[in-house]
Amino acid sequence: MSTLTATASQEISAVSGPTHFLIRRLHSLTGVLFGGYICVHLLVNATLVEGSRHDGVATVYQQQVDKIHSLPFLWVISWTLILLPIIYHTIYGIYITLGGQPNLASYNYPRNWSYTLQRASALVLVFFIAFHYLTFTGTFGGDLGSRLTFVAVDDPSTPFSEATQSTINHLQAAWWVSYVIYPLGILAATFHLANGFWAAGVTWGLAITAKSQRRWGAVTVLLFLFTTACGFTALISALTAEVRHVPAQFKTHEKPEAALVAPTTPGARS
Ligand code: HEM
Repeated sequence: MSTLTATASQEISAVSGPTHFLIRRLHSLTGVLFGGYICVHLLVNATLVEGSRHDGVATVYQQQVDKIHSLPFLWVISWTLILLPIIYHTIYGIYITLGGQPNLASYNYPRNWSYTLQRASALVLVFFIAFHYLTFTGTFGGDLGSRLTFVAVDDPSTPFSEATQSTINHLQAAWWVSYVIYPLGILAATFHLANGFWAAGVTWGLAITAKSQRRWGAVTVLLFLFTTACGFTALISALTAEVRHVPAQFKTHEKPEAALVAPTTPGARS
């Protein structure tokens, strides 16, 4: 703890006092907020274990995607709870990372390793989150860009659920996506999340004594194992499923006209 705070405070010389305190607390708070979102995200992704269905019934994953997309004021929720927090956390996190001095050579304690790995995983996450977001939202064209694009809306004219199928296509778009980017990205996210939650417990005064820090440490190790298991369940499930072509005209977040008039039965696509 003393190593953490001493090194962290040495990094910021330009801003000090209450402003520095608030900026750092906000960095911690945005990390915890985004961490909560990542837990839900990985849990939903793990439902890909069901695989792709070809019987016209919406997969559990598709149903979760539909629920999220039907939330009122979705754009307000995503900007306030997801996008703004991660943008702030990333910008200030890069500032901290570039200013921090790894001190593994001098103090080879587990917490120093955590300190360094927290920053190393942060840098991996900058690239991973950018790749994940830009490719899923269809920023890139061409055949690869198209295979990487996420299709949220279920098209009743195909026998599969578009959200599930486009996620499978995304994860199998190229060997380096399946076996380099995602394994690394999942591990960086789950380590950074769990180790970050440990540090946040200290930051907010919830784990102060050595005993409480050990106990909180055990909880966060379990969190790491659970979220990693969810992430790899999703990845392995997608890699063992069949790739199917998702029609290009539905590569949009808008509901296709046919879907608006399709009859709705529980669990069926709507
Ligand atoms: C999966 C996405 C992310 C989650 C869930 C997350 C969460 C967290 C949490 C909970 C903390 C602990 C805050 C505290 O010490 O009280 C933290 C620390 C940190 N995060 Fe993130 N973060 C994410 C992405 C990033 C990214 C992209 C960066 C960019 C550089 C970053 C940089 C940092 C740094 C440098 C720290 C250490 C701060 C310190 O030692 O005071 N994080 N993160």
